[in-house]
Amino acid sequence: MAISLNVNGETHEIDVDPATPLLYVLRNDLELNAAKFGCGLGQCGACTVVVDGEAVLSCVTPVSLMEGREITTVEGLGTIEEPGPLQAAFMEMQAAQCGYCIPGMMMSAHALLRKNAEPSDREIRDALMTNLCRCGTHMRILAAIRRAGELMQQASAPTERRAG
Ligand code: FES
Repeated sequence: MAISLNVNGETHEIDVDPATPLLYVLRNDLELNAAKFGCGLGQCGACTVVVDGEAVLSCVTPVSLMEGREITTVEGLGTIEEPGPLQAAFMEMQAAQCGYCIPGMMMSAHALLRKNAEPSDREIRDALMTNLCRCGTHMRILAAIRRAGELMQQASAPTERRAG
């Protein structure tokens, strides 16, 4: 079945079984490997992407449901040369240990920060409830998400002009 997917602002035409999980299409067909296969059962959050502003577990989402939707992966948040606020904040706070869960964490955080750039720790914890980390950087992840919110606000703040 031919499906048109909008991923990170680009349109891709793919020919695929409609029941194929979105994660497989992202990784195998589009070579976007940030989203990870963890459990494959919707239980770990490693595969999280953002669809129309909401965090979605791509391992249990059939690609056929994604036509006409706006999909964002970590690759859409910035580049190595120009990291986006979340990427910059995770590096600044050294929030990754093994790093396997981090793309999913970032995408859940992205969905949260789009709605609320100043989340409380409680709100961050709730938004990342479905993202599991087996290392130990939970506090750094919290700090990185708070920092990303600050960076996003700084980036969107109007530049002050000084008279004289
Ligand atoms: Fe999708 Fe674990 S791989 S939730």
